[in-house]
Amino acid sequence: MSDAAAGGPAERWFGDCFGGRPEQVWRAPGRANLIGEHTDYNQGWVLPFALDLGVTVAAARRGDGVLAIRSRQAPGAPADLPLAALVPGAVTGWAAYPAGVAWALRQAGHPLPGGASLAVDSDLPQGAGLSSSAALECAAALALDGLHGLGLPRPELATLAQQAENDFVGVPSGIMDQSASLLSRAGHALLLDCRTGVTADVPLDPAAAELALLIVDTGARHALGDGRYAQRRRECEQAAARLGVASLRDVTSPAEAGRLADPVLRRRARHVVTENGRVRQAVTLLTGGDLAGVGALLYASHASLRDDFEVSWPEADVAVDAAMAAGALGARMMGGGFGGSALALVPAGWRAVTAAITAEFARRGWPPPAFFPAVPSAGAFRLRGGRR
Ligand code: GLA
Repeated sequence: MSDAAAGGPAERWFGDCFGGRPEQVWRAPGRANLIGEHTDYNQGWVLPFALDLGVTVAAARRGDGVLAIRSRQAPGAPADLPLAALVPGAVTGWAAYPAGVAWALRQAGHPLPGGASLAVDSDLPQGAGLSSSAALECAAALALDGLHGLGLPRPELATLAQQAENDFVGVPSGIMDQSASLLSRAGHALLLDCRTGVTADVPLDPAAAELALLIVDTGARHALGDGRYAQRRRECEQAAARLGVASLRDVTSPAEAGRLADPVLRRRARHVVTENGRVRQAVTLLTGGDLAGVGALLYASHASLRDDFEVSWPEADVAVDAAMAAGALGARMMGGGFGGSALALVPAGWRAVTAAITAEFARRGWPPPAFFPAVPSAGAFRLRGGRR
């Protein structure tokens, strides 16, 4: 475990900011998503996994009713927020995520008396589509839950963290990222049925298959709050309403989606229906030990996100096509879209793929992308103090 993952820098940062030692230290990972994109808010299926990069929160109770938050990545922007004054819109920037979690916990009837001091440290790149904000929410949620002895079940913490993001920060994201951060198991992807909340651990061990899952941070930055993500959500709701179903989860065949007269809504619905199908096929393949077979599904997912859902971006398309041409078994854009990272399933010695992508970026005069292997890792865990 790296020093960051072991919590050392976060503990020292706590001492620098607040003096003394933290009572509890929690770490929540970022996530990659193997497959199942833009299906979560359509009550469908997703198959993400936790990364070994994440956010660490070192925390202690206070007595003055203040939520004091210090980020090692933003040392010039301390936040001291009286809990009683937390209302949606009152906090902006990175501090809104942990503050939103405190707000959501209080809304749910947990007043967090006395407040808390949170020292935050992260080794996740921001804006890369790896859910650094969900990781921050989840680490803060576990710390506040732990410090105040609430003992809330993790699926409930995931819902509260999503509420923080939706209603306090104002980003209309689904439940996938928080669930992946809180519920994943090492060596597995997390199959989540976003309607029922039922989860299953699906074996995902690329190294055992002499393969690797490679994250390509394309360098293009996205913002879920910029309106295009929300627009996709609205289009999906409209499509479901016109088809007379509660959500696109209930549309079981592409032919049914084909009944929509509006060509845009028809394409959006077709993506969601076919993507839900791909998630279930991927689970069948992985359960049968055929990770290589998932490659074709990844590329089909990319084509669907690019052509039907229209959320891909030029750097992702170039990275995916270059990866495929250089021997990747599959590749696709990942996350909400319009920027961030792609994911490629590649042979274990993946230099040919990274060299090919880098060359294509250079040919276009784009800054070089960053690469790192995505290792399916454990969901959030406690590093120090507390009961679990
Ligand atoms: C973002 C959101 C998730 C999900 C994905 C798209 O990561 O936070 O809830 O909707 O986009 O699959």
